[in-house]
Amino acid sequence: MRRFLIDTDTASDDATAIVMALRHPEIHVEALTVVGGNVGLDQAVQNALYTVELCGENTPVYAGRATPVMRTLETAQNIHGEDGMGDCGLPLHSRVPAEGRAVDVIVDTILGSPGEITLVCLGPLSNVAAAVLRAPEIVDAVQRVVVMGGTGVHGPGNVSAMAEFNFWADPEAAHVVTSSGMPLEFVGWDISIASAVVDAERHAAMKALDTEFSRFAVSIAQAVRRFCLANGLEGDDLPDPIAMAYAIDPAPAETQRLHVNVMFGDGGHRGVMEVDRLGFIGGEPNVEIVTHYPGERFFELFLNALA
Ligand code: BDR
Ligand code: CA
Repeated sequence: MRRFLIDTDTASDDATAIVMALRHPEIHVEALTVVGGNVGLDQAVQNALYTVELCGENTPVYAGRATPVMRTLETAQNIHGEDGMGDCGLPLHSRVPAEGRAVDVIVDTILGSPGEITLVCLGPLSNVAAAVLRAPEIVDAVQRVVVMGGTGVHGPGNVSAMAEFNFWADPEAAHVVTSSGMPLEFVGWDISIASAVVDAERHAAMKALDTEFSRFAVSIAQAVRRFCLANGLEGDDLPDPIAMAYAIDPAPAETQRLHVNVMFGDGGHRGVMEVDRLGFIGGEPNVEIVTHYPGERFFELFLNALA
């Protein structure tokens, strides 16, 4: 079994990405560590606990940072719904997270099994940056760090012209992680809109499965879907699930190893990924950037998880 540790600001697409990992026969999820992002921390913890319960698992869920490392949290509830899960009426309350703090869990899990843990990051990088600053030795001890964040080498962004939500929400944390020396692999929003848009045909395929998992995935994405269709897209897209697909099966991906700097502070450059495309100007390559992931393989993995 491959061992994943998932850091997540659990809302709709995080939840389906978590289902993909929890239900995959070759993946063992050590824990979910939760961060404020799409929704506030307490709501994200409830959403994560509900998702684990739905999958019939006992995976521990730990609460982490409620806020970015240096600023206040700006959520994405206008996109994902007030509860982050499409406001579709799920009972997302009263569950109790495991005792312990997410940042400690990230450090202890990685240091407890050097070279064995794949850290999959699906939210703002606040917990992960705090872990790196607390215990820099995790940088060499972690096997892979797959990040849904940024937006490839050409954009576009989904919060500003060039910034993607997870990096924009906590750009200082994204900067710390990107400069840390960790073995980073980025799946940006460009990959999601290129290969993970749920168009009418794919939406019909999800509905046709008619399992508790497919019904869950369709319902919790309904707010994002409405937003995307109203804004001229062919359907909602699934950034965290395609990052998870890549984490599970990186073989079909095309990647480029380049130097990346995430810009922090405020203004138009907040959370923007500066990429040295020439490969010799910006410094040593520090990120494996996914430049293509085939949509057919993604939807195969996605639909298998919901079947
Ligand atoms: C990312 O931001 C969140 O809204 C999604 O869950 C995903 O992690 C996409 O930009
Ligand atoms: Ca997310």
